[in-house]
Amino acid sequence: MSVIKMKGIILHGGHGTRLRPLTHTGPKQLLPIANKPMSQYCIESIRDADITDIAIIIGGLGANKVREYYGNGENFGVNLTYIEQDEPRGIAHAIRLCKEFINNEKFLVFLGDNIIQKSITGFVENFTKSDYDATVLLCEVDNPSRFGIADVENEKIVKITEKPKKPASNLAVTGIYLLTPQIFEVIDNLKPSWRNELEITDALDNLLKQNDNIGYEIITDYWKDTGTPEDILNANRQVLENICNQTGSIIGKNCKIDESALIGRNVSIGDDTIISSDVVIENSIIMSGCKIDGGLNIKDSIISANCHLHGNNKDKTKKVFLLGEGTKITL
Ligand code: G1P
Repeated sequence: MSVIKMKGIILHGGHGTRLRPLTHTGPKQLLPIANKPMSQYCIESIRDADITDIAIIIGGLGANKVREYYGNGENFGVNLTYIEQDEPRGIAHAIRLCKEFINNEKFLVFLGDNIIQKSITGFVENFTKSDYDATVLLCEVDNPSRFGIADVENEKIVKITEKPKKPASNLAVTGIYLLTPQIFEVIDNLKPSWRNELEITDALDNLLKQNDNIGYEIITDYWKDTGTPEDILNANRQVLENICNQTGSIIGKNCKIDESALIGRNVSIGDDTIISSDVVIENSIIMSGCKIDGGLNIKDSIISANCHLHGNNKDKTKKVFLLGEGTKITL
């Protein structure tokens, strides 16, 4: 008997408005965390759970950049299919586009801007064995009004609400969903929300009302939805702590960093970047092909590819930048 393997879906669309100007030239899911696009962490996490047939939903600005970077997936140990979403019409809409790709099996959906550190293999295995219509991964958050929230009573989910004004709990429904094809029919009957999107939370809540059969798991480890620049720096810090807790920084290939430049903790520097003496950088992401000189003191910044920054040697106060690709600044 052949075993049919679960398939995966990665959502890679959207406009990334809260991350402008970083997202003027590409999708937010390709922004680097510790010098690796954030959606690559999703692909690796799914692949490590032994799911290798993956559809990537692309759309909007920079969709071609996603195809160019991941290709057919062979360099990443997966087999990729691209599905286009014409407009950002919501997570549930994107999932519905995958009905044929999924072909009546259980499947996993991973939002390309979600970063998780722990392996998801256990969650996937539990779901494969279970009879649940769906399993959601929950994580405690400090700001529940920003997320889908699960109301849990006696270890059962009783309601799921998108961005509630008065949250019933602080358990966010993370962007990792384990689903069955039942969700497709529910989505077909869904109405757009106040933000004119087909919400996955509404679909899940309707499915819950139908059969009362949705499971959950709790992520007790690190999880982050990287919606804002602060979130991205937080994820960068977290990943760096994990991979290089000695130096707390990562430097790409072919960089020229002057010996007297001070690269502090939580700093990622992309390939081919030149940093001259007297420059101080802490808690920042500097992408590839940048040139920084003139005694700049930089903190809490995200500087996109090919930016040139020239400081004023007389002013050593700390500066915070959020710069789109190719910005040129002389202070
Ligand atoms: C989306 C979902 C929300 C979920 C979040 C997780 O929110 O709608 O339920 O908690 O992803 O990342 P959005 O990023 O669209 O605001």
